[in-house]
Amino acid sequence: MRVLVFGAGVLGSYLAHALVRGGNDVTVLARGKRAEQLKKDGLVIRHYFQLKNTVDEVKVIQELQSDDFYDLVFVVMKYNDFPAVLPILAENKSHNIVLVGNNADARGMQNVLQETSVVKKNVIFGFQLSGGLREESGRMICIRGGGQMLLGSLDGEIPFKLLLENAFKHVKYKLSYHEDMEAWLKSHIVTIVALNSISYLYDGDLKRASKDKKLLKKAISVMDEGFQVLEELGYTITPANQVNFIRKHRQGVYYGLKIIHKLPFMKLIDGTFSEIAALFDSFDKLKQQVNIATPNWDELEKQAISKFISDNH
Ligand SMILES: NC(=O)c1ccc[n+]([C@@H]2O[C@H](COP(=O)([O-])OP(=O)(O)OC[C@H]3O[C@@H](n4cnc5c(N)ncnc54)[C@H](OP(=O)(O)O)[C@@H]3O)[C@@H](O)[C@H]2O)c1
Repeated sequence: MRVLVFGAGVLGSYLAHALVRGGNDVTVLARGKRAEQLKKDGLVIRHYFQLKNTVDEVKVIQELQSDDFYDLVFVVMKYNDFPAVLPILAENKSHNIVLVGNNADARGMQNVLQETSVVKKNVIFGFQLSGGLREESGRMICIRGGGQMLLGSLDGEIPFKLLLENAFKHVKYKLSYHEDMEAWLKSHIVTIVALNSISYLYDGDLKRASKDKKLLKKAISVMDEGFQVLEELGYTITPANQVNFIRKHRQGVYYGLKIIHKLPFMKLIDGTFSEIAALFDSFDKLKQQVNIATPNWDELEKQAISKFISDNH
C-alpha cells in the first residue's frame, strides 16, 4: 500500500517506522535539514524503553505534487503547523487523510479540506500515543509502550477503516477507535495546556516544577475550569474519569502531578510552546461562547504567554 507520512518529526518518524515494518510502500515528506538527514542516514530511531536502535530506509520527498497519489496520507505535525499544509493537501488527488496530533479545530480543518479539495476527501483524526525528542543528528528518541494510535471520524464511520487495518496488519501497532474524537481532542487540550505551561514556566526543569505546590494546584484548577467550559458547550469529557478524578480527588491528582514531574523520561516528552500558545488561542474562542469564570486558566495563560512573548523577543 502506498502511504505518505507528511511531517517527519518525532511522532511522524515513529509512525513511518511502524508502517515500513508493516510492509507498506512508505514515503515521507520532510523539509530542509530533516529531509537531508533522512536521505543520508535513513530513519534512525532510539526506542527508549526497548533499549534498541532501528534504521529504516524510506522514500523522501520535499514537496507534494497535485498528481502524487497515496492510498493513505498521515499528516503528523504541531497544531499550529496544520493550516499551512491544508491547501497543499487540498490540491493533491489522494482521498484518505488522517490528521495526527493535537487539534482544537478539527471541524474547521475538515471543512477547509473538503470544501477546497480537487477530489473527494475522507478526513479523520488521530492521536499517536507516544512521545519523544529529536536529537541534533536527526535521531529520534522515542518513548512508547506498544505502538498505538487513537482514531476517529467527526461524522460516524471511518470510510477507509479497512485500508487502515491493512496498513498495520503485519506490525505490532494497535489502532483504537473513538466515537467522539472531537470531544477527545478538545478534552486532551485542557490537560496538555495545563501540564505544558508548568513545564514551560520552569524552562523544562520538571524537578523544580514538581516542588511548586502552588503552581501544581493551580494547574488542577485550570483543568477543572477547562473541562467546565467544554461541558457547558455540550462536549462529553473523555476519558470521563479524568474529570471525576480531578474534581473528587484533588489531593491525589496533586501527588500524581508531583510524581509525574519527577519521572526521568518525562523530560523526553516534547512540548513546544508555540503549539501550546496556538491551543490557548483557540480555546479562548471556546471560552468566549460560554459564561463561565475561569480565573485560574486566565492567570496561567497570561503568565505563560507573557514568558513566551518575552522569550521570543
Ligand atoms: N513529541 C512528543 O513527545 C509528543 C507527545 C505527545 C503528543 N505529541 C503531539 O503530536 C503532534 C506531532 O508532534 P511531533 O513531536 O511529532 O512534532 P514535530 O517533531 O515538530 O514534527 C512535526 C514535523 O512536521 C514538519 N512540518 C511542519 N510544517 C511543515 C510543512 N509546512 N511542510 C513540511 N513539513 C512540515 C516539521 O518539519 P521540521 O523538521 O522542518 O521542523 C517536523 O518535522 C503534536 O500535536 C504534538 O503535540 C508530541
